[in-house]
Amino acid sequence: MKAGSFYVTTPIYYVNDKPHIGHAYTTILADVLARYHRLAGDTTHFLTGTDEHGQKVLRAAQKSGISPQEQADSTVVRFRDLWKKLEITNDDFIRTTEERHKAVVQRILSDLFNRGEIYRADYDGWYCVTCERFYTDRDVTDGLCPEPGCGRQVERIHEANYFFRMSRHQQWLIDYINSNPGFIQPDFRRNETLGFLRKPLNDLCISRPKSRMNWGIELPFDKDFVTYVWFDALVNYISAVGYLSDDAGFNARWPADVHLIGKDILTTHTVYWPTMLHAMGVQMPKTVFAHGWWLVGRDKMSKTQGNVVDPMAFADKYGVDAFRYFLMAEMTLGQDASFTEEAFIRRYNADLANDLGNMLSRVSKLLCSHCGGSIPEPGETGAEETELRDAALAAARATIESVKTMRIDQGLAGIADVVRRANRYIERQQPWNLARDGRAGELRRVLYCAAETLRIVSGMLYPVMPGKMADLREALGMSRKQPDFDGLIKWGGLKPGLPVAEPSSLFPRVQPQKQDERPPKEAKPVAAKPSGDAAAGPTPAGLITVDDFFKAKLRAARILSAEAVEGASKLLKLRIDAGDGERQIVAGIALHYKPEELVGRTIVVVSNLQPARIRGVESNGMLLAASSGGVMRLVTVDGDIPAGAPVK
Ligand code: MSP
Repeated sequence: MKAGSFYVTTPIYYVNDKPHIGHAYTTILADVLARYHRLAGDTTHFLTGTDEHGQKVLRAAQKSGISPQEQADSTVVRFRDLWKKLEITNDDFIRTTEERHKAVVQRILSDLFNRGEIYRADYDGWYCVTCERFYTDRDVTDGLCPEPGCGRQVERIHEANYFFRMSRHQQWLIDYINSNPGFIQPDFRRNETLGFLRKPLNDLCISRPKSRMNWGIELPFDKDFVTYVWFDALVNYISAVGYLSDDAGFNARWPADVHLIGKDILTTHTVYWPTMLHAMGVQMPKTVFAHGWWLVGRDKMSKTQGNVVDPMAFADKYGVDAFRYFLMAEMTLGQDASFTEEAFIRRYNADLANDLGNMLSRVSKLLCSHCGGSIPEPGETGAEETELRDAALAAARATIESVKTMRIDQGLAGIADVVRRANRYIERQQPWNLARDGRAGELRRVLYCAAETLRIVSGMLYPVMPGKMADLREALGMSRKQPDFDGLIKWGGLKPGLPVAEPSSLFPRVQPQKQDERPPKEAKPVAAKPSGDAAAGPTPAGLITVDDFFKAKLRAARILSAEAVEGASKLLKLRIDAGDGERQIVAGIALHYKPEELVGRTIVVVSNLQPARIRGVESNGMLLAASSGGVMRLVTVDGDIPAGAPVK
């Protein structure tokens, strides 16, 4: 990260209901990004807020017998309170019912209307109340909403409305996306949008007649209509930073560096929003990044299922920092992840209680009992210290990189690895024996090296766990304030003589719940068993030779298309490129992945399996996936690698 400016946004959340873990996740992610950028010295602007108009909010209000404004006013407090609790450092909070927003939406509408980008016409088609979106006959099957993850009943609507000439901008948008690969991330989401754009784009209905739905921003050119909630909501990203009201402020912040969104609102952000901006003559945001969904176990979170995770209750129970850490470490950005209390406790105990917390208490205890309660002089360092130093600095640099590449989970995994290494280093060096044998110089060297590793680790984890990392740093005599970023990629910053606190438990161990001790994740074949040949040769102890292993030819393969196998709810049929032309494989992953999530991904396949017929469908190979506790995740290749590359 280089000092500059950084503007990050979250979606603005509907105020029809209280916040859940999905809202908490995006907002924590934005907060973590903002905090890393502030650490790097960037002028950072972090915007979140609430989406207060539209049918959803109106219906929630009607259900409670209050006005929509009262509904918004009471629910917005729950969001604000949660952000406070979760230590969210947003610089602004926009509500779409605020005058500063409404005025900008109206000015944009007038301008587009005057320039012929908006016109009036009769509309006859389908409407989904939940998604607040219109669909044509072509989009809808069996009267159900086509939006992935929705599938609710749609309503037939016939009325006059105003339309934005979105279709006019279709070719421009395709060209823009193709020539700006960073615009939609991850890559497979870009392909999804480009896939959507293969069909002709309809114009976008941007009004609702007041006679049907009056909770919205009035159209400046027709008092009988209010603005469609998405046309209103998307504008928040510019109205909040001074578009048409503060040119200097706007130019300093826009374009946004990243709009963080969930995968369900990809089309609105990568088709509606860019075409709207293009019509307005405003620059595009640099990146729209769509993350996956949190599932509960492997189920969708929903009120009807009664499995909605309440972030407030969870943070109360286990602590804000541990909750933030879990969400950031557990989700591979872009893909779905599974939230369960068991998984939380497992990671908490492993990474935080056993590794990091334990290391701090060991080190501070030894420093208090053998070094007079202060950081000692480092003394001469040997090969072991050099190795730990290099590992810590490499992990720090990798964390910085992971923020740029939106792979914070990987950065955190690298930091957790350094903590494990440091604990192993302490075990090998046995400082308690050094103390017993009076080898004071070596003892000081070991404890300095361990404490210095904790300085770097705690600095790198500071944006994720600001409270606990401030405690850790204070325990080693450092300031609680945000650390100096440059100092985190240099060794030796911990000043000898700093006072060390008596050990206390930073992350007390949590008693695992009864189902906790599940078998560890394993990579396992998903489609068919390996042929007899590939599996031949295990020794009595179950070991195989390297020659046995190399009989299976593992290759990187690109998924070209995916579809369900009729009559087999667990199977998907994939067309893949494994470097030797197209082939088809059948995999038992349908309960874990939707076909559209798979296209464009690079997976690992066993490419030299004898062809087999699975449920009558030919399969030429087998993909690898890890599974545990009913959750299955594909083994994928990280980064660009040509299809067919051998995996060894
Ligand atoms: N108001 C619109 C956004 C307008 S942005 C100009 C909206 N609001 S929402 O409250 O329904 O959803 C906000 C975000 O929560 C979306 O990004 C959505 O993807 C995300 N999530 C909802 N459920 C989720 C999970 N289970 N997991 C992760 N995020 C999920 O859409």
